[in-house]
Amino acid sequence: MNNIAILCSGGDVSGMNPALKHFVEYALEKNLNPYFVYDGYEGLIDNNIKLTSYCDVAGIINRGGTKIGSARSQRFMLQEHRKIAKQNLEALNIEMLVVLGGDGSFRGLDVFYKETGIKFCGIPATIDNDINGTDYSLGVDTALNIIKTSIDAIRDTASSFKRAFVIETMGRDCGYLALVSHLTSGSELCLIPEKEYDLKSYEESFKEQIKNGRKYFIAIVSEGIKQDSKEIAKWFEDKIGMESRVSVLGHIQRGGNPTIYDRLMAYKFVTKAVDGLLQGRDESVICYAKSGFEFKSIEEVTSKTKELDTEMLSYLEK
Ligand code: F6P
Repeated sequence: MNNIAILCSGGDVSGMNPALKHFVEYALEKNLNPYFVYDGYEGLIDNNIKLTSYCDVAGIINRGGTKIGSARSQRFMLQEHRKIAKQNLEALNIEMLVVLGGDGSFRGLDVFYKETGIKFCGIPATIDNDINGTDYSLGVDTALNIIKTSIDAIRDTASSFKRAFVIETMGRDCGYLALVSHLTSGSELCLIPEKEYDLKSYEESFKEQIKNGRKYFIAIVSEGIKQDSKEIAKWFEDKIGMESRVSVLGHIQRGGNPTIYDRLMAYKFVTKAVDGLLQGRDESVICYAKSGFEFKSIEEVTSKTKELDTEMLSYLEK
């Protein structure tokens, strides 16, 4: 029997646990020995690698986060540590690696592959949905649903108190979470890093809306914009004349019960990744685009910044 390992790297997402569960079950079905690497690349270096079985993944499909931990490893950037990681994998005869993570995690993996020849398949997993070459990354749907629930709740208090709420979403330099949340929650303002804005251009219309009976505003801003959310709230107070509050959603966006879509995508991503490795693919990322699942090179996935869908972006035009 051949040996295969899985690890999670970078920010955890809801969907990693369903992926781990299916990984173990599918590997066993394919007559492979499944291993868990704990705490991302740190576990590779520290030899925190364990053979796993069905009982290790019982009762995790409904849980956010990752049972095997994740990390952003600085040590893995150094060759001396990658050498140790290689020795650890070789000692266990692990020839195939599945890595759930973002583009930063894949870049490290590419270097590792070139030095060691250990085959890998990346599975895009980040709530930011900012990986080039894939329309979907694991965890995005759950994050969007958490944001939706939060905005719906904030709307209740915003309307009761006649307030403007500035709700900050995660996403680093990518405004995907904010934009989709704006389009699906009927907010009045959306600010994302991909689009220049001038708050002044909203002033007349917002004041007019208040005159016509508007009682509250919801503004969704992405953490990557140049201004601090507090400055946007101050603008509501000073220029629009409405009391305001800021809600930074923060890490609640990364946790929670994985949605059906994320569980299904976890299942599909893992199946494709394991199949790809068994068919001899040695350094690829399994991506999901309009045409379906497709293996892409690490170069394609990591060399460019993903751009927001132009159609969705056009909905922001005034
Ligand atoms: O990349 C995922 C992400 O949640 C980003 O949206 C956010 O900017 C960052 O990670 C937060 O990182 P940390 O968990 O290290 O605070």
